[in-house]
Amino acid sequence: MPSTANPAAPERQYPLRMPSGWVAPVPAWKSTFADSVSSVSMCVIGFQHTPEIRVMGYLRELSAVLVNAAVCDFASSDAGQGMQETVCIAYWLDATKAQADLSCSVFKTMWSKHMAAEFGYGVFCESINVPFDRSETLFSGPVHAHGMSQSRLGVEGPIPHHQYWGGMRDRIPLAARDSLSQSDSLRIVEQSDTRVLVTAHENLCIIRSGQDWSQCDVQQLGEYRDTIEPILKAGMSFLRDHGEQVNCYSCRYMRDLNSDGTDVPRSFGLACFRTMKDLEDWAEHHPTHLAIFNTFLGIAQQHGPDLQLRLWHEVSVLPADGQWAEYVNCRPGTGWLGGI
Ligand code: HEM
Repeated sequence: MPSTANPAAPERQYPLRMPSGWVAPVPAWKSTFADSVSSVSMCVIGFQHTPEIRVMGYLRELSAVLVNAAVCDFASSDAGQGMQETVCIAYWLDATKAQADLSCSVFKTMWSKHMAAEFGYGVFCESINVPFDRSETLFSGPVHAHGMSQSRLGVEGPIPHHQYWGGMRDRIPLAARDSLSQSDSLRIVEQSDTRVLVTAHENLCIIRSGQDWSQCDVQQLGEYRDTIEPILKAGMSFLRDHGEQVNCYSCRYMRDLNSDGTDVPRSFGLACFRTMKDLEDWAEHHPTHLAIFNTFLGIAQQHGPDLQLRLWHEVSVLPADGQWAEYVNCRPGTGWLGGI
């Protein structure tokens, strides 16, 4: 009898968590990228400010200098204690070009201009580079593309590895032979009264998990606003204010914005965990995500294939090298500083 095993596939050292014979109850898709691309770089450039201070113009200026970026998204969040964080999230499909944009003299000059404490706002820049074998994307439909997937080649699916706990890990190629659990401490590499530069430890885990209600009719929008959104907000507030209980260094619950600062009918949680295991544990066991998950499933079951809310996420588990974050005039505990 011929063997059905693929002789080219490397053996897994860590078994899949997908139950045997699993058939996902609803379909999902993942993004595919050109074979010539092996990593994505992502940079969150942000202002920490009070609501009266308008920063979209500054962000537009900064993002215009990132000429090689494939994507520039804008978004804003309530950072607690009366502060907001308004950001541009840029993605590049070439790490060298990301580096070139972020180190060019025009960008550096503009960045330095915002460092004066008397402006009354802080600035931060969180820069990561993710090999694709350490990341995964998941979409509830084959059409919507957000985050890094705005520069994807196509979609693959419906895929089998989802809708069970552990699906995220099963979708990350390197997790087949690496537990991705080794972690150390974030390192402060430069520090002054106003500025901190931090580098990552191995396996820092970043998730951007999004909700898109642009296709919802009045009834489904009402259901989203009245039932899911408040529970999502509570879960994101827990991670923002008490993240240390679950090894979450930072969480921003963000509203997407157009480049002129007007609202887009989408939101996302952008969170940074010590490791993927910590993120898994929160998603699978913590009452805040379980409440989001179960409320959503109740509504999704009522609507079946007519559900109009679109969900997506992208998850990255970082190698230690090449990841850094800079905070200037920001509150203690901002972003990755929440892990120090
Ligand atoms: C998984 C619902 C927000 C973290 C899931 C799954 C659903 C779900 C249905 C299973 C996905 C699949 O494998 O097919 C929701 C809904 C949300 C929401 C309805 C908002 C309205 C978030 C946010 C985060 C998050 C904001 C993190 C910041 C996770 C993680 C998993 C997951 C890490 C994967 C768990 C695993 O595969 O082990 N969620 N979620 N979710 N969610 Fe959420």
